[in-house]
Amino acid sequence: MRVVVTGGAGFVGSLLVPTLLEQGHSVLVVDDFFAGKEEYIPTTGDIRFVKGDIREDSEWVDAWKAFDPEWVVNLAAVHYIPYCNKNWQHTIDVNVGGFNRILELSKGAKGVVAASSAAVYGPNDDPHHESEPMQPTDVYGLTKKINEDQMEVWSRWNKVPVRAMRFFNIYGPRETNPHLIPEILLQAETRDDIQLGNLETKRDFTFVGDIVSGVMAILNNLDPSVPYDFYNIGSGYEYNAREVTEALGAAMGRNLTAVSVPERYRPSDRMHLCANNAKLQTLGWKAEYDLERGVAELAEWLKSS
Ligand SMILES: NC(=O)c1ccc[n+]([C@@H]2O[C@H](COP(=O)([O-])OP(=O)(O)OC[C@H]3O[C@@H](n4cnc5c(N)ncnc54)[C@H](O)[C@@H]3O)[C@@H](O)[C@H]2O)c1
Repeated sequence: MRVVVTGGAGFVGSLLVPTLLEQGHSVLVVDDFFAGKEEYIPTTGDIRFVKGDIREDSEWVDAWKAFDPEWVVNLAAVHYIPYCNKNWQHTIDVNVGGFNRILELSKGAKGVVAASSAAVYGPNDDPHHESEPMQPTDVYGLTKKINEDQMEVWSRWNKVPVRAMRFFNIYGPRETNPHLIPEILLQAETRDDIQLGNLETKRDFTFVGDIVSGVMAILNNLDPSVPYDFYNIGSGYEYNAREVTEALGAAMGRNLTAVSVPERYRPSDRMHLCANNAKLQTLGWKAEYDLERGVAELAEWLKSS
C-alpha cells in the first residue's frame, strides 16, 4: 500500500514507519518537527518525506496528491497535556482544524486510521471499555473526542472506512515529550532519588512496540463495509510512578527511588487510567510487553544510543 503517515517523525512514527517499510509498503511522512525529529525518519527504503504544517495548505498538499495514498495514518497532533492546557488555540487548530484538512485529502483512500487517546475517557477506577461514554477532562481530550466525531461523520459521508485508535500511556525508545519516563531518565543523569508528584496514581504504560502492532492489526483488518469503529490500544497493565521508577532503575543497574514532592502534583489527576483491550484482541493482537520487558528494551536502547 501507499501509506501517508502524518506526524511520522514523532515517537510512535519512529517505529511505525520502519515497520510499514519492512512489511513492503511505500510511505510518505508529513511532519513539521514541532516535536518530531528529522533523524527519526528512515533514509533507506521506499520512503518520502515532506515538511509541512497540517494547519496550512502548502507544498505538502501537492506531495500528498502526487503520492495518492491508499492508507492514511494520522499521528500528527499537539499532545503534551501541560502544553495543551496553556495553549488551547494551538491545540485546537492542529488537532481539530489540521485533522479536518487530513480527512478532506483522504477522500480517495481505502482507509484512514487516526490516533485518539485514553484522554477521551472520564475518571473510572476500572479498566476503560470502548462502550463507556466519552467524558474528557481537558482540552487535549476534548480535541480527541471531537476527532472521533469528525471521523464518524466523515466516514459515513465519504464511504471510506475510518478507525480511531485510543492509545494509552506510551513509552519506549525515542519518546519526544517530557512524560514520566523521560523525566525519570533526565533526573537519573544526576541523582538516584527521583523527584516526582503523586506516586500513587496508576497508568497503563504500554510499550511502543505494542502500540505499533495494534496499529498494524487495525490497518490489516479494515473492513470496508464498516464505516467507523474505535479501539483501545493499551497493555491492560497498570503501574504507579514508584513502580515505574524502580523497574527502570533495575533495568539500568541503578537503585532509583521515587520521592513525592508536593510542588510537582498536577492540579487534577485521576487515580487510574487502564485499558480493557478485549476488543483489539478480537483482531488477533495481544500485548507482548509488561513493564519489566519494556524497560529492559528501553535500557538496552539507551546503552546503544
Ligand atoms: N505518546 C503517548 O503517550 C500518547 C498517548 C495517547 C495518544 N497519543 C497520540 O498519538 C499520536 C502520536 O503521539 P507521539 O507520542 O508519537 O507524539 P509526537 O509528539 O512524538 O508525534 C506527533 C508528531 O506530530 C507532529 N506535528 C505536531 N504538530 C504538527 C503540525 N501542525 N503539522 C505537522 N506535524 C505536526 C510533531 O512534530 C510530531 O512529530 C498523537 O496524535 C498523540 O496525541 C500519544
